[in-house]
Amino acid sequence: MSGRRGDRVPEPPLWEQWAAASAAMPQGERLQKVLATRGWGSRRVCEELIAAGRVTVDGEVAVLGRRVDPEVDRIEVDGVPIGARPGLVYYLLNKPRGVVTTASDPQGRPTVVELVPDEPRVYPVGRLDVDTEGLLLLTNDGDLAQRLTHPSHGVEKEYLATVSGGRVAQGRIRSLREGIELDDGMTAPAQVSQPDSGVLRITIHEGRNRQVRRMCEAIGHPVERLVRVRIGTLTDRTLKPGQWRELGRAELNALIEAVGARAPR
Ligand code: URA
Repeated sequence: MSGRRGDRVPEPPLWEQWAAASAAMPQGERLQKVLATRGWGSRRVCEELIAAGRVTVDGEVAVLGRRVDPEVDRIEVDGVPIGARPGLVYYLLNKPRGVVTTASDPQGRPTVVELVPDEPRVYPVGRLDVDTEGLLLLTNDGDLAQRLTHPSHGVEKEYLATVSGGRVAQGRIRSLREGIELDDGMTAPAQVSQPDSGVLRITIHEGRNRQVRRMCEAIGHPVERLVRVRIGTLTDRTLKPGQWRELGRAELNALIEAVGARAPR
């Protein structure tokens, strides 16, 4: 019995919504499969998430049967980016002094990759000088690594620099803040404070070679000790030098969010 005037038009059954969405977008992977392989539950559970309107693709609520390209589309559950592909690992290492940020060193010095598991093979994201200590991300997610190091994303890096020459005068701190001439050009404005006499907390978003050391040298206070204490939203005061841990899901999602879901063009 159907079609009487005044009857409420019933919602099409879920499978019909599914078929219509699939036909409209035959390319890509099924959204529920993508969610399931990234740890959001069984396919059934993921279908329910979609049916409940909790999943968006590029900001639009997705319907069952939606196909996506997870490399390109920004997929969120309850506003949270869906995160990592399986097989990808993300380690946060507290790099000790004297360890080089490369996969292998011709001079035979210890390398950061020797401090984390061998398999799967990971690479450092960006670089810390051999004498710099502190937080370094290592991953096999080349896409995220590329975005994190791409200057257009300007991910903040915060350092604690112990400098020689004692207390740094306010005028010199101001020049660091405003930008200072180095041999490869002016530095962008930086956040700089002096939490202790002769200790500078410097936040930059550029990634030039030996930048913090050269900035401090330029104001007449060469660096004696340099420690990176933050990368974007990532911090950890409990990791001892040489220790590492995997990133948590929320940490990873925050990083992904910070650099956007799409690769820079
Ligand atoms: N700036 C430096 O001078 N050295 C580093 O290792 C990182 C930033």
